[in-house]
Amino acid sequence: MNEAKYGEHYSVLKKEIMELFDLHKIVEDSQEVYGDLTFGAGGHSCAILENFPKAFLHAFDQDKEALANGIERLEAGSYSSRAKIHHSNFENFSTVIDEGLLFNGVLLDAGVSSHQFDSGGRGFSFRFDAHLDMRMNNDESIKPASHYINTLSEAELLKIFREYGEEKFSNNIVRSILERREVSPITKTKELEDICFHSYPKKLRHGKIHPATKSFQALRIHVNRELDVLTNVIGQVIPRLKVGGIFAIISFHSLEDRIVKHRFRDLLSGDIPIEILTKKPLLPSKEEIFENSRSRSAKLRVVKRLEEWPRKNKYR
Ligand SMILES: C[S@@+](CC[C@H](N)C(=O)[O-])C[C@H]1O[C@@H](n2cnc3c(N)ncnc32)[C@H](O)[C@@H]1O
Repeated sequence: MNEAKYGEHYSVLKKEIMELFDLHKIVEDSQEVYGDLTFGAGGHSCAILENFPKAFLHAFDQDKEALANGIERLEAGSYSSRAKIHHSNFENFSTVIDEGLLFNGVLLDAGVSSHQFDSGGRGFSFRFDAHLDMRMNNDESIKPASHYINTLSEAELLKIFREYGEEKFSNNIVRSILERREVSPITKTKELEDICFHSYPKKLRHGKIHPATKSFQALRIHVNRELDVLTNVIGQVIPRLKVGGIFAIISFHSLEDRIVKHRFRDLLSGDIPIEILTKKPLLPSKEEIFENSRSRSAKLRVVKRLEEWPRKNKYR
C-alpha cells in the first residue's frame, strides 16, 4: 500500500485549461483570483500559480491526504503566500468563500485522483483487497461503502447499480449481495469483486471491462454523493465569477457530463448573463490519451459570465 507517499496524478487537459484562462484573462485586473475546486495532487493549481504570477488561488479538497500533500507542494513551489487550501466539500463553496470575492477562473476536475484509486487501503479499486470504504472524505460522519452494501434494501441497491453504474446485470449482482450478506457482512473489496464476477454470465466474465468495474463506480458515486454535489456547486460558482470570468468543468462519465451540460443550459435562463463557450465538449488530444489512458473519457465544458445577455438571447 502506498498511503504514506502521495502518488502522482496526471493533470488532464492542463494545457487547454491554461490557454482558456489566458484567453479570457481580464485586462487591467488588479486582483486576479482563481479557484480549483478539486486540488488532488495540485497539478492544475500549481500550473495556475505558475502561469498567472499575480493570481491568488483558493483550492478545495475534501481528502485530508490531498490537503497534507498540497500544503507541501505549495511550499515546494514557493506558492504558499498566494494560495489557500480549504479542507471542505466544494458543495460548500458559497459559504467557505468570503461574500463579495469574485473569480477570474474556476476549475472543477471531477472524480477521484490517481492517488485515491491507486491507494490500496482506500477501497476504491478491486485490484487490492481492502476494507470496502471508498470515502474521499473519511470523516466519521460519512458512511463507507460497506455500510450501504450491508444495510440498503434490494430496491435501493438496484437503483444505485442501475442508475450510477448502468450495470446490465444489476439484478444478479444485488441478488447475490443479499444472499451473501445473510451469511456474514460484506466488508472487503475482493468479496464484492467476487460477487460481481460470478453474477456475470460465464461467457462475459473475461471481456474488456471487468464485471466489477461499473458496480464499483456506482457505489463510489453513491458514497461520495458525486452527482448531487456537482449539481449543487454549479449554480454557486457562476454568481461568484467576475464579468468575463470562466468556469471550466472536466467530467469523466456520461452521468456527470449530462449534469454539466443541462445545468449550464438551465442557467442560460437565469438572472446572470452567461455564454456557454463549448457547444460541444473539448476532448483530450490523441497524444494526451496515449500518455495517460485515464484521460480518454474526459470532457471539458466551459461557461463564461457576461456583462449583459448577447443580442440573440435578449428576448429569452
Ligand atoms: C481528479 S482529482 C483532481 C486532480 C487535480 N486536478 C490535479 O491536477 O492533481 C479529484 C480530487 O478532488 C477531490 N474531490 C472530489 N470531489 C470533491 C468534492 N465534492 N469536494 C472537494 N474535493 C473533492 C478528490 O478528493 C480528489 O483529490
